[in-house]
Amino acid sequence: MDIIHKNKSLSVRSNLPDYEKTYQEFSWEKAKAELIFFPDGTFNAAYNAIDRHAESDKKDKTALIYESDKGEKESYTFAQLKEQTNKFANVLASQGVEKGDRIFIFLPPTPERYIAFLGILKTGAIAGTMFSAFQETALMDRLADSGAKIVVTNSELFSRIQKIWKDLPDLQKVILVDEGDFPEKEKLISYQQEMTTASADFNVAHLKPDDFAYMLYTSGTTGKPKGVVHAHADLLQAILTTKYVLDVKDQDIYWCTADIGWVTGVVYGVLGIWGLGGTSVVFGGRFSPEAWYKIIADNKVTVWYTAPTAIRMLMGSPVDPKQYDLSSLRHLCSVGEPLNPEGVMWGKETLGLPFHDTWWQTETGSICITNYPSMDIKPGSMGKPFPGVVAGIVDDNGQELPAKQDGHLALKPETVYSLMKQIWKNEEKYKSYFNNGWYISGDQAFKDEDGYFWFVGRADDVIKTSGERVGPFEVESTLIEHPSVLEAGVIGKPDELRGEIIKAFVVLKQGVEPSDALKEEMAAFVKGKLAGHAYPREVEFIDKLPKTRSGKIMRRILKAREMGQPIGDTSTLEEY
Ligand code: WT7
Repeated sequence: MDIIHKNKSLSVRSNLPDYEKTYQEFSWEKAKAELIFFPDGTFNAAYNAIDRHAESDKKDKTALIYESDKGEKESYTFAQLKEQTNKFANVLASQGVEKGDRIFIFLPPTPERYIAFLGILKTGAIAGTMFSAFQETALMDRLADSGAKIVVTNSELFSRIQKIWKDLPDLQKVILVDEGDFPEKEKLISYQQEMTTASADFNVAHLKPDDFAYMLYTSGTTGKPKGVVHAHADLLQAILTTKYVLDVKDQDIYWCTADIGWVTGVVYGVLGIWGLGGTSVVFGGRFSPEAWYKIIADNKVTVWYTAPTAIRMLMGSPVDPKQYDLSSLRHLCSVGEPLNPEGVMWGKETLGLPFHDTWWQTETGSICITNYPSMDIKPGSMGKPFPGVVAGIVDDNGQELPAKQDGHLALKPETVYSLMKQIWKNEEKYKSYFNNGWYISGDQAFKDEDGYFWFVGRADDVIKTSGERVGPFEVESTLIEHPSVLEAGVIGKPDELRGEIIKAFVVLKQGVEPSDALKEEMAAFVKGKLAGHAYPREVEFIDKLPKTRSGKIMRRILKAREMGQPIGDTSTLEEY
């Protein structure tokens, strides 16, 4: 693969320490000084994110600035968040919530979901978050597998839980942040009512640093989404990267555009930013160039963490950013999918600042490879490992490869402080990530002679559409629930705007007439059952799916066919 813009590195000013020096001097043990442990050596991430600041001279500092889609604003200081999260922890405790219980949040972007998240951590229970576009199947997969005890939602989203509740024996109660009259009355709890009477004092759970804090379901090639579990002390890497990669300083106004249903929204929308005592903006509305530029201008956002698809949408939009006062911006970062060099350059030319790409995954819990602010950016490269983190490119046997050779992007697990601690109830899957002392990311990449990492592609069939991770199996298994579908094979099809779109190859049952209307019906079917973002934008009817002799769908062949590329080795293929 050619290195695009290889000689066009961008020098970026920074008052941060030199990369090489920091890299040599770094130690996680010393870095722990960023955290506050209780005198008995126990720990709580929510105490570190909120209470420590509420008990310091930051108590009246604004932690959360919330702006709804209608432009209504609310803000909370650290002291107010301490009070609210204590109250919520008391609400949970009064329901018998105990350490290790799974409590899930299913809410649109509102202050309540931040209060709920941190309140859950204070009790020692495990917080799970779910994207508000999830429908029944996606909800069922997560709530059933985790054995969630309580879900926090609103009356609109509750209707989706209502339909599946009978199949969720562990789900005891639902907390509604707004009011609503439902037949399940005795099992519903009113957030408003309970919060009014709850005490604002709470004894935060004293936990072992490795006790579980939150879990997120994420997709792979095979099977349903898996529950990636993170510990309380994973907060350390979140704080350090917020400080040294996102470059957040005390006076900054920081905006992370990710939803709390995804790992970026949890780690950089909650833990890192508040762990560091910073001010965070949350926008309750949907993406539009006008709305986003307005959020930056109105709130004087200084540090902005967003995603390539959004950047490309802004680049392609007729809305001129120059119509807005975006002069407050001083540092821009991106994550989630490859950031093309054009995106980096657009930032530089239009906003006066390049985007700094960052690489990590739900499993790694924090940024691992990045364009550290003091480094030269090579547009198109993900940058170098964060100090402390050891990354390498390895072959199928876990042997490290020399520079400029494509291989598996891998990390030394003991050097990634925030690496997942478990895959929920799936030890085998957890173990499958490791090979010869390396954590294997599932991405393919190479390293250049300067130690910069370049993303090549996924080593598996995982789809990244608009930066969101979707497993082909989830989409295929939803499609085959459709009465006209016999079989389906799903791939990510390269797309200029969204990185990839989901494309489904569908074999219809005998006698079913193919039509465009049927394609649309299938897209809508998946959207309605699985999730608003995880449906096939393209459906193609096909007579037969390529399969191995053991019956596994060969998505690689579907992809090659789609791309007009040679089909490659077909020796394991059944007759096709
Ligand atoms: C996958 C992880 C971690 C935050 C959100 C995504 C892709 C992530 C980059 C990047 C190219 C990237 C990888 C990775 N990815 N960052 N800078 N350049 N690809 O978390 O949903 O767990 O997805 O996103 O394929 O494995 P996630």
